[in-house]
This record gives sequence, structure tokens and C-alpha cells, in this order.
Amino acid sequence: MIRLTVPQISDEECAAVERVLRSGFLVQGEECEKFEHELATYIGCEETVLVSSGTAALHLSLIASGIGNGDAVIVPDFTFPATANVVELVGAKPLFADVHPNSYNINAQTIQNVIDNWDGSEKISAVIPVHEFGCPAPMTEIVKIAKKYHLKVIEDAACALGAEYDEKKVGTYGDAGCFSFHPRKVLTTGEGGAVACNHHETVIKLRALRNHGIRLDQSVGGFNMPGFNYRMTDFQAAMGRVQLIKFNAWIEQRRFIQKLYHEAMRDLPVRLPDTINGHSWQTYMICLPDEINRDDIIRKLLENDVETNFGAHCLHMQEYYQRTYPEDIKKLSGNTSEKLFNHGLALPLYQGMTEEDVMTVVRSLKKVLDSFKTLG
Ligand SMILES: Cc1ncc(COP(=O)(O)O)c(C=O)c1O
Repeated sequence: MIRLTVPQISDEECAAVERVLRSGFLVQGEECEKFEHELATYIGCEETVLVSSGTAALHLSLIASGIGNGDAVIVPDFTFPATANVVELVGAKPLFADVHPNSYNINAQTIQNVIDNWDGSEKISAVIPVHEFGCPAPMTEIVKIAKKYHLKVIEDAACALGAEYDEKKVGTYGDAGCFSFHPRKVLTTGEGGAVACNHHETVIKLRALRNHGIRLDQSVGGFNMPGFNYRMTDFQAAMGRVQLIKFNAWIEQRRFIQKLYHEAMRDLPVRLPDTINGHSWQTYMICLPDEINRDDIIRKLLENDVETNFGAHCLHMQEYYQRTYPEDIKKLSGNTSEKLFNHGLALPLYQGMTEEDVMTVVRSLKKVLDSFKTLG
């Protein structure tokens, strides 16, 4: 079976985790502190704040940015639901922007469309661009339009550690950059996440919010605000530190595999994703022709020992959002995000995948597509 993804855990990660487990210092020890510094150096930001997941990173970033009741936040319609769920959870309203059909990301135009069509009472206060599947969103134009309308920019770089836009790492363009270290991501700590931030006052708030509201930089009476327990453990951080050393080489391998796929699928009747500079290829999603049922293809490929999946979700198709915002949702019916959800197919991609694996996937896909043609 060629798996969709395989987390890369070697003896080095196991030894690092064991060392922490045997040390007796499982949380709030020096591994987290060191990982935060190393991550900030890697990303090229002033500071990072480790948290328990990508969702926690987004949640805290919204709270630290003062987003709440009475606010509306622009999010992509095509993403993982956590991007919009956190907006709901702080009492604000998500507004769904459509994405580009080949990059799968929002841009200044799709943000402008939302602003132009908005006539609700909430104030549009922020935008959360997602760097979907590791593809850098066009941050220069997004920051420009955000400035024009006084919007906070919180980058959802959950899938995009290592991706670059204009030779600068994503997650460094906005007010905060949020990362996930879930096993489906290239660097994993089991569960985990981080916020990258260049504003020290915001970092202080983020650190307090992740740790019950305690200000560790104040000597007494440090419970400064109500907070969560969104901390990362030290053994997770130890694992992350080992992975970070190998990370650049991993991205290069993934870029190589993507090129192999692109070359091998040239003549297949599928739409390939944009090969934008700086893409870190957390996921390689192609689009199948409209007349083909994507779920049938997933099933048939599995029978051929190839594991695939849909790419990301279309938020306006989710039951909660349909029920909560029926009027807004009606206007989005049939948009690009809906098509990408219905026809997107994520192919296996992980470092360590061989050239022969890639060819097997493409041969199987061709065979399955041909069999549908014959049936048709
Ligand atoms: C775009 C995006 N945002 C946020 C998240 C949430 O990250 P986590 O699973 O670490 O909470 C994910 C996870 O898949 C994601 O893909």
C-alpha cells in the first residue's frame, strides 16, 4: 500500500523523547524554550509561542488581537474548518472568500469581493489568509488591502512551515502566523502548534493566554487574565527540535516528488496545481474532471493499494455554517471552493517516497481514469 502520508519518526526522535521522559521535567522545561528560539530563527521572526495545536494558535491569535463580538473576519471558503471555527468561538462572524482555482488560496480580489458585498452590522476587522497545502498566499497584495481597510492579518500557515513568499517565510507577514505540528504536517510533534509574532506585547499576551492567564514575567499575583491550558509538553518540543534539523532537506525532497508528479501527469485529463515559487508541498492536490465522481476514484485507487483523499473542506457546505448563516451561504453555491472540494484529489506525498512509488501512483490513477472512460 502506498500511503497518503507517513510521519517520519526515526530513532533520533525516539531518543529525544525518551531523554525528556526520564528527566522528570515533562512540561515547562527547557526543551520548549529552546524549540521556541530555534523555530523563530528558522521562520525569521522575533519570537514564537508554542501551543498544543494549530487550532490553539489561531484561537489565541484572535483573542490577543482583540477580535470578538461585533467583528467579522474574512476566511477562505476552502480550508480546514478550524480556520473559521475559531472565529465563531471568539464570538465573531466568519465571512467566506472564494479561492483561486489553481493556487487554492484567497487573494486581494477575492477579499475585495467580500468587502464590497458585505452589508451586515459587524465590522470587518481581520482576515485569515490560509497558505493552503503549503502554497504561499500572495501576501504583498493581501497586506496592502488589509492596510487599506484597517484589518488585522492572522496567517493560517498550519500546513506551510518552511513555505516562502518573495523569499521570506510565510507566517511573518501578518500580525501573527499560526502553524500546526499535527502528524499530517511535514514537521510533527504528535499534536502541537506555534504562533510566530514580531510584537513583543502580543507575545506576552499569547504566553499568558496559553497558560491559564499567568504572567510569568511578573513576580507576584501573576494571574492577569482568564486563560487556557494550551501548552506544549517538553517531550513534544524535544521531538520537534530533532525534526527541525532535518526539515529543509525534507522540503527539498517534497519539491522533487512534486516535480516528478507534474512531469508524469502531463498527459492525464486532470488539472494540476500551480507550481508557485516557495511552495512547501505539504499536500499535492489535483482536480479531476467534473464528470468523474472523486469518491469512486478514491475507492478504486484503494483497491489498487494507493491511498488518496479529498483535499480540504468547503466551509459553506458544512452543516453548522449552513444552519447558522443560511442567507450568506446561498450566495456561495457553485463557487470555486465547492468545485475544489467536490473534485480535489490529494495524492500520496511524503519524504522517503521513491520515484517508483510516484510512477505507481500515476499508473494506477491512469488505469482507474481509463476504466471510467470505458464505462462512460
Ligand atoms: C489550514 C488549517 N488550519 C488549521 C488547522 C488546525 O490545526 P490542528 O489540527 O493542529 O489543530 C489545520 C489542520 O489540518 C489546517 O489544515
